[in-house]
Amino acid sequence: MDLPFGVNFIGIGAAAPPTSLSNHDLTALVETSDEWIRTRTGIENRRIATPDLTLTDLATTAAQAALTQADIDPASLDLVILATSTPDDLFGSASVIQARIGAAHAVAFDLTAACSGFIFGLVTASQYLQTGTYKRALVIGADILSRWVDWQDRRTCILFGDGAGAMIIEAAPTLENALLGFELRSDGRLNHHLTLAYQPKPQALAHTQIGQGTYHPIVMNGQEVYRFAVTQVPEVITKTLHRANLTAADIDWLVLHQANQRILDSVAQRLEIPKEKVISNLANYGNTSAASIPLALAESIEKGKIKPGHVIATAGFGAGLTWGAAIFRWGSDFTI
Ligand code: UT7
Repeated sequence: MDLPFGVNFIGIGAAAPPTSLSNHDLTALVETSDEWIRTRTGIENRRIATPDLTLTDLATTAAQAALTQADIDPASLDLVILATSTPDDLFGSASVIQARIGAAHAVAFDLTAACSGFIFGLVTASQYLQTGTYKRALVIGADILSRWVDWQDRRTCILFGDGAGAMIIEAAPTLENALLGFELRSDGRLNHHLTLAYQPKPQALAHTQIGQGTYHPIVMNGQEVYRFAVTQVPEVITKTLHRANLTAADIDWLVLHQANQRILDSVAQRLEIPKEKVISNLANYGNTSAASIPLALAESIEKGKIKPGHVIATAGFGAGLTWGAAIFRWGSDFTI
């Protein structure tokens, strides 16, 4: 369908907690080794939020950095989407961020799609802009999974870290549209492979019962999620390339959800994208869920690797199960 507007991606920012947890630190918690974690995942360190640091704090810092880079007034934002599975408040945290950054005219809401959340948020925001409903949007991917990891479970606790990343998207003339293609998917039949599920405890209440409990820590069938990622991610990127009338050779950078270096290598190999074009920062951050893609983008842009005009293929995948890809051109006429 032809939409009346295009979009430009004009600012990015990221934030991570100052506290690090190394592979060596984890050997004191579970039976594992630095060597096992490095060779199976590529992870060396992860950042962990201390109790005083909130999801809203991290997300606000990332959002402010993105606003500064785009050099825009927060009051000009029409939309704020917070992609997270770990809000400070189950009613949503987006509106608190909206207030803290001074986006007085924006509507703000949370979006949950686990590690695919940033891609789902980017596409959702772009739809509002491309239809002409709104002009400027802020999309944040942020998670503090350390609060929901079972630190006795060596199969999962070695993987995750905390962080936030944010992007400013602006409506543009259709001819300048920088969102070249996207595909979003979910398959709830595979939900049980990766969960952070509510566990009700039945309690008597008047003439009935209620189930007041809490969330059970993350449970993951690693092998199944691995298999899913290395087959579905190349497929969804290939479909997205096709939609965008591009080939893998047109891609300047592959920026995947930073889950496991072996997944990154396998997807790149299947797409015949050379290693030099694959962005990876998971050695330092682990899997930061919805934050991982904007965090990796922000670092590479700051280092000058990704430059305005470069074409980026990005894909998220994870719980739901959900997955999706977006191919876009970075930057507009501003200088970084
Ligand atoms: O963002 C959401 C997306 N999530 C993912 O992308 C995760 C995808 N899955 C993975 O990345 C990998 O499956 C893992 C890194 C989680 C696990 O790697 P694996 O190569 O699939 O290991 P495995 O589960 O097949 O386990 C191999 C062995 C087992 O021992 P036995 O049964 O062979 O004796 C495990 O018990 O490694 C053992 N093991 C460990 N050993 C040392 C599992 N975790 C550890 C550990 N340290 N931390």
